[in-house]
Amino acid sequence: MRTHHCNEIRPSHVGETVTLIGWVNTVRDQGGVIFVDLRDRKGITQVVFRSEVSQESAELSHKLRQEDVIQLTGKVEARLKTAEVDTTNANLETGEVEVVCHQLTVVNKSEVLPFQLDQELSNEDLRMKHRYLDLRRPRMAKNLRMRHRITKATRDYLDENEFLEIETPILSKSTPEGARDFLVPSRLQMGDFYALPQAPQQYKQMLMVAGVEKYFQIAKCFRDEDLRADRQPEFTQIDMELSFVDQEDVLALIEGMLQRVFKESLGAEIPAKFDRMTYADAMNTYGSDKPDRRFGSTLVDFTDLLKDCEFKVFSGAIKNGGVVKAINVKGFANASVGQINELTKFAQEAGAKGLAYIQCRGAESTEWRSPFVKRLTEAEISGLKEGLNIEAGDLILFGADKWEGVCDVLGRIRIKCAEMLNTLEGNTDLNFLWVTEFPLLGYDEEEGKWNAVHHPFTRPIPEDEEKLRNGELEGLRAQAYDVVLNGYEVGGGSIRIHEADLQGSMFDALGVTAEEKEEMFGHILDAFKFGAPPHGGAALGLDRLAMLICGENSIREVMAFPKNNKGVDLMSDSPAAVDFKQLRDLRIQSIAPKKDEAPSA
Ligand code: AMO
Ligand code: AMP
Repeated sequence: MRTHHCNEIRPSHVGETVTLIGWVNTVRDQGGVIFVDLRDRKGITQVVFRSEVSQESAELSHKLRQEDVIQLTGKVEARLKTAEVDTTNANLETGEVEVVCHQLTVVNKSEVLPFQLDQELSNEDLRMKHRYLDLRRPRMAKNLRMRHRITKATRDYLDENEFLEIETPILSKSTPEGARDFLVPSRLQMGDFYALPQAPQQYKQMLMVAGVEKYFQIAKCFRDEDLRADRQPEFTQIDMELSFVDQEDVLALIEGMLQRVFKESLGAEIPAKFDRMTYADAMNTYGSDKPDRRFGSTLVDFTDLLKDCEFKVFSGAIKNGGVVKAINVKGFANASVGQINELTKFAQEAGAKGLAYIQCRGAESTEWRSPFVKRLTEAEISGLKEGLNIEAGDLILFGADKWEGVCDVLGRIRIKCAEMLNTLEGNTDLNFLWVTEFPLLGYDEEEGKWNAVHHPFTRPIPEDEEKLRNGELEGLRAQAYDVVLNGYEVGGGSIRIHEADLQGSMFDALGVTAEEKEEMFGHILDAFKFGAPPHGGAALGLDRLAMLICGENSIREVMAFPKNNKGVDLMSDSPAAVDFKQLRDLRIQSIAPKKDEAPSA
């Protein structure tokens, strides 16, 4: 249908006859002569319709509208460029030439568009409803191409490292990754359900038992959880598993893969080795297990300094076994009352009782504004000054409570302040970090039981293995690791348990009954009895990686057809009611929900 694409024609083509096909990007009428910017996925070429060249085409061109599909044949001409007139366009790669049309075919008309493609649109629902138009925008088209590059680089890298790409079932069995499952009723096994995989975790471990040694998959995963900017119910993992490896081998593999991906997508050189931090250190200094280290305001502990302090909010919390920590937000001393209130409310919503503060309008404590500074001693003030490196212009924010709560709240406040101050505007750093030594188990006060922090197949560190076997569950550490980029968890994994008895101890720790063990995990415990190799692996969130590489702030911008924050695909209007007959075949009673009925929490 064409001799060239729309980003191909250059001055060297002048005089040639070419045929192009594409969309009408813009139409301009200049004194009765129509100029069209014709677009295809490669770019744009300007086309001119002159009546002296073709009366018929020129007349037809007056009826052209944005996004009509047209095919045309014409002669390439150089655009006029003299000392007086310059009609070239430096912004277009084809900007030195134009095609003078002598034959135009309108292949398919477009109706008036629901939104302009060349303007940013804040109404995301409208974009999603007409996603096929939204994806025609250059930014979105670029994101799709970038995602392809990332996936291609991943496949090439893993292929060169002798990995096999193996698909695992989508209709599978419920696997405990921590979220709610999507279920699919079985017609042939009436009353039973498949679960869509939250991750291919158990299958990839089975492939290790099967002797595959190096597996990967660009895997679709499904989790029925509340959605956020970096969470979708259906997302994609770069999923990997290896046999006969330790943690160092897995980390090195992923470092190599990310180097390759960043090189081939952004042309960026990233460090060969990423910094490392234990989970405990990350929580203690950044208040997060996915610290964004591109800015300061780290958490400083003042429990010792303030244990006898006259300000009861601090000394009281410490007497109750808690801690006092503070962060220094440089340049925020002039925060308004409204901003302080906003921060306090934010802290309270995160579980804090309050947010004590000092506005350091000058370097001397006499110039500080704060509800409690007058109750601090000279020694306490100089301790704070030294620990936080206080200067004029600083805002100091405090948390006083149990260690976990203080870390979490100050970690969030730290990020919130950076957002309020636009600290990261224009920052192009790529800050990679390994977070290691996650806890193996976390105690759920409400349920009164232990849960796996990563998943139940994760191995404790060697020193803690015996404790797990003996049921001593407090403080066990895991051979689990997350890779963090600019404050996002882009991937995680672990070395696995490969012995049936240790896996059994793990299930015991989680309170899985003998019956459940057999029913839910019989296959994996059986498989481990037949010479399961030591193994481990990881999975990277492809969508999050693509989002960060494309400089977007939502994974929806790098997925072709995402769901909105209510889990709805507005374009196809799914989920949707189904035919009564389909339900009858599955022996499902009418479950049609009322449209406004809230889902269970
Ligand atoms: P995990 O649950 O940490 O590990 O998931 C791995 C990575 O997947 C991404 N991710 C998501 N991305 C978008 N939307 C979601 N709802 C979502 N949930 C997770 C994150 C995360 O780091 N089977 C293990 C891996 C292993 O142990 O090998 C697993 O799934 O970037
Ligand atoms: P109050 O004594 O309750 O009036 O609180 C004095 C200041 O301490 C206020 O700015 C509160 O927001 C703050 N505050 C109260 N409880 C805590 C806490 N647990 N951690 C940090 N700040 C607190």
